[in-house]
Amino acid sequence: MSTQSTPAEVSMETIVALCKRRGFIFQSSEIYGGLNGFFDYGPLGSEMKKNIRDCWWNDMVRRRDDIVGIESSIIMHPKVWEASGHIAGFTDPLVDCKASKQRYRADQLFFSPVVVDGKTVGYVSALEGENTAAELQSAAETLKRKKAIQGELAPVQPKDLTEAQPDEIPLIPSPATGEPGSLTPPRAFNMMFETYVGALRDASAVAYLRPETAQGMFVDFKNVVDTGRVKLPFGIAQVGKSFRNEITPRNFIFRSREFEQMEMEYFIHEDADWAQCHKDWIEWCRQWLISIGLPDSHLSLYDHPKAKLSFYSKGTTDIMFKYPFGVQELWGIAARGNYDLTQHAEASGKPQEIFDEATKKKFVPHVIEPAVGTDRIFLAALCAAYAEEQVTDEKGNTETRIVLRLSPRIAPVKVAVLPLLKNKEALVGRAQELYKKIKRKYTAFYDESGAIGRRYRRQDEIGTPWCVTIDFDTIEKDGTFTLRDRDTMQQTRITEAELFALLEEKVY
Ligand code: GAP
Repeated sequence: MSTQSTPAEVSMETIVALCKRRGFIFQSSEIYGGLNGFFDYGPLGSEMKKNIRDCWWNDMVRRRDDIVGIESSIIMHPKVWEASGHIAGFTDPLVDCKASKQRYRADQLFFSPVVVDGKTVGYVSALEGENTAAELQSAAETLKRKKAIQGELAPVQPKDLTEAQPDEIPLIPSPATGEPGSLTPPRAFNMMFETYVGALRDASAVAYLRPETAQGMFVDFKNVVDTGRVKLPFGIAQVGKSFRNEITPRNFIFRSREFEQMEMEYFIHEDADWAQCHKDWIEWCRQWLISIGLPDSHLSLYDHPKAKLSFYSKGTTDIMFKYPFGVQELWGIAARGNYDLTQHAEASGKPQEIFDEATKKKFVPHVIEPAVGTDRIFLAALCAAYAEEQVTDEKGNTETRIVLRLSPRIAPVKVAVLPLLKNKEALVGRAQELYKKIKRKYTAFYDESGAIGRRYRRQDEIGTPWCVTIDFDTIEKDGTFTLRDRDTMQQTRITEAELFALLEEKVY
């Protein structure tokens, strides 16, 4: 077989279709029309997501001596969110279009004055996307043409709606209607989901679904210190669901209303070199993403400008990923000083300090926080792994092969076991025996239906790194079987011991 590889710039439509077709991800409550911003992971998706989560947990917690894990509750005392600042400040700027009843995030709605010969003749708007500036420019040209204005059109100057002057807002067209006059000024919209705890439904019973897992680590800080024999520097990590009532959930699982976070709070001495520690964690996170198969070429760093940081923040760097819809935040790594522990100490009246043996003084540790969404890693991994290739067989027939080049660490199925023929008892028996043995430790798939080439294709499309075929040589000669590699499509003969050694090395 010869191959001609065409690494595809995959579209989101392709990824969404593959996810549905092969059972990675479904829309939540689909039979009732779905619920915007919520998703279900199907049989393959839940395996792959679990693999990402397990890799993170193993590398972040189990394989390190300085980090411990916890699992805190999703609903916490409402005072947690007062102290953390979420009740007052966990908001996004919301804009309503009174005509269409559409709602937008003001920082995702862009506008520009249309300037001809130095004079503003109108305004144009566009939603954030990869080509926002080009869209605005084209809208400006259309407006100039429609109004039959002569003169030189200046290049548009895109700003988001949070930067609009009050007298500009009535002049900016709504993206829904194309007409000005219906957009409201931006107002703060709190993204926390409220609920009630207990039988009463009044203000005293209000509680919140957590919008981040991080506060669990801060609130349990003293418990861990008092019981865990931890010594600075050390980290507390957890994985769990978070909930945000996003104004505009979008880009599939990239921004949803219920999602999973993997967060770690790394506590350091107040006099420690926080900048170096921050840098070390950025590099650790980048290397970890590469270890689960994300290409370095798709990763970049974005340092938040000092002017946009919260007053307590010393620095935040995001690891960005090149998604099909643009370069977007994947993993935020923040140096948060001792803000969170100090806030909880003040609000609860319980000191959150550590005793320094060297100076015989108590102090509140500072923290570096790497916080990432499992779903965002999942989407990044799928987009980076997807490829379509033209494959030509020995007879000269060419077809398109869809292949997910997922890292064996996160691939939902590690090995497919295929008896060459399904009506030969000896082949089937040996294949079943091997399949059951592999399944004790690794996810495996048994498939005896259809031509062997078809069976390989089915596994390629779900990212299975290896297929083993049990043939007559296996049962009549030396017991070896064919190992077919997903990426190279090379076939080699190996023993059972060699197969397990390969799995041991690559799946960890
Ligand atoms: N404790 C800090 C914190 O939560 P964040 O930047 O708001 O910081 C951390 O969130 C990470 O969680 C993000 O980098 C992203 O990977 C993920 N995340 C945040 N909001 C999300 C959403 N609506 N849907 C999916 N993932 C989200």
